[in-house]
Amino acid sequence: MISFIGAGPGAADLITLRGAQRLREADVVVWAASLVPEALLTHCRPDAEIHDSKRMTLEQVCDVYARHPDAAIVRLHSGDPAVYSAIGEQIAWCRANDRPFEIVPGVSSLGAVAAAAGCELTIPAVAQSVVLTRLAAGTRASMPARETIAAYAATGATLALFLSAGLVDHLAGHLLGAGSAYTAATPVLIGQRVSWPDELLIRTTIGEMAADAHRAAIEATALILVGPALAGADDQSAGRSHVYDAAYTTRFRRATGVIDG
Ligand SMILES: C[S@@+](CC[C@H](N)C(=O)[O-])C[C@H]1O[C@@H](n2cnc3c(N)ncnc32)[C@H](O)[C@@H]1O
Repeated sequence: MISFIGAGPGAADLITLRGAQRLREADVVVWAASLVPEALLTHCRPDAEIHDSKRMTLEQVCDVYARHPDAAIVRLHSGDPAVYSAIGEQIAWCRANDRPFEIVPGVSSLGAVAAAAGCELTIPAVAQSVVLTRLAAGTRASMPARETIAAYAATGATLALFLSAGLVDHLAGHLLGAGSAYTAATPVLIGQRVSWPDELLIRTTIGEMAADAHRAAIEATALILVGPALAGADDQSAGRSHVYDAAYTTRFRRATGVIDG
């Protein structure tokens, strides 16, 4: 069995119980040392065969799988494997080679950065959508032409920009183009290596984010969150949810009263 496991954002106790169990049972582990701290390997057996995928190609990774047809193999990906993990091509290999596989979800850096900042990304009447996206430079051929930052900025939704810290100088221009629902004062959170021992969290605005990112020497493994919902933790005037509103009937509770204000 090949288990594609979400390692979580970095802290060794933010992997799921199932993920940690698979690591304890693994004969072979392929992990991305550039994105997953070594502390995660404390879950592994001392005799497990460990491969760092940092300098490996897809073919070399799949060659490890091919050489161990009967082993318990763990492929450890950062965060949750559903986003930007390149498991799609590995699953295609498993299917083509008749190899059983499973996916064990993990805590994405999206939730980890929001948790570190103490905020919710969806605030009633402010933003009810979260867009997971990226800016691209060297890999821009991966970006479908219609998936532009400007198109998402026009909605005012909360944006989660992965893999984009190196392009922070270009970001404000994309976010504040014609038709954007954001302004230079719109809140931005930059989380670098969140849940790692050297975690860094910056609260800034679209107008200030490039200067603040440079001042803090933000480079890789940083997630950038943008949108008015990020003011929610500080702004008590932000909307509240219907589900816990006494004036609102749910499937489990009848409305009992009206909340003032
Ligand atoms: C290859 S993608 C993997 C995303 C991962 N699958 C997830 O769910 O978080 C790597 C990007 O995820 C973000 N990232 C991953 N771990 C992070 C962390 N601990 N703190 C901040 N951003 C992180 C950064 O944007 C980084 O460039």
